Amino acid sequence: MNDKPVNDKQAVAIHATKYVKNGMLVGLGTGSTANYFIEELARRQTEEKLKVTTIASSQVSMIKAQSLGLNVIALTQVSEIDLYVDGADEITPDMTLLKGRGYDLVLEKLLAKAAKQFLVVADKSKLVDRIGTNYAIPIEVMAFAWKAAKRSLEAAGGVGDLRQNVAKDGLSISSHGSLVLDMAFDKSISEEALNQLINNTPGVVEHGIFRGLTSAVFIAGNGKVEERWK
Ligand code: A5P
Repeated sequence: MNDKPVNDKQAVAIHATKYVKNGMLVGLGTGSTANYFIEELARRQTEEKLKVTTIASSQVSMIKAQSLGLNVIALTQVSEIDLYVDGADEITPDMTLLKGRGYDLVLEKLLAKAAKQFLVVADKSKLVDRIGTNYAIPIEVMAFAWKAAKRSLEAAGGVGDLRQNVAKDGLSISSHGSLVLDMAFDKSISEEALNQLINNTPGVVEHGIFRGLTSAVFIAGNGKVEERWK
């Protein structure tokens, strides 16, 4: 990459590729920042003969990676990966994340857990004091259980509804055929309590609070990248 990055998202994504070494199995995130990472990884494979195998956190990322010539394998083939690099929707000072504005938070959390290192790449607009500052919490629910799950979450103070699709003419369906509830909770509930509460709600497949999974956060602002390690 000889050209100047076009923005902070590209700058931080390119920075993260420095942690990719020959022979690694690398998890690919989803979103505009992760896309820059995929592009830079593909460039290094072509121009620097970097040898990597990848595993994608979404269909969208899989298609992008394959179209750029990266070798993508399925999660069914492995139980551990070397490195996972992905963006986030919100990042707190203790590196708790909110993820899942895309559609594949189940795979995203599986990769975050399976990774020896999980690097989060973002511009500084993602920094918040607490989860839920800018977005409701995405909660993927089994389609037949959405009403029961919503009622349980409402009983705990949650407010929200099923996510609409992008065209707003139907519901958003995850890659695994689940529905997504976007629920906001009162600020008096701690992130840990909220994490437990949603984990313990029957019918929930997965949700967007990622606690204790992050190895490092790389934050870009005004073209400069700051590394914050756990
Ligand atoms: C995808 O489900 C999310 O977890 C993404 O990581 C998030 O939306 C980041 O997107 P951008 O990189 O486009 O901001």
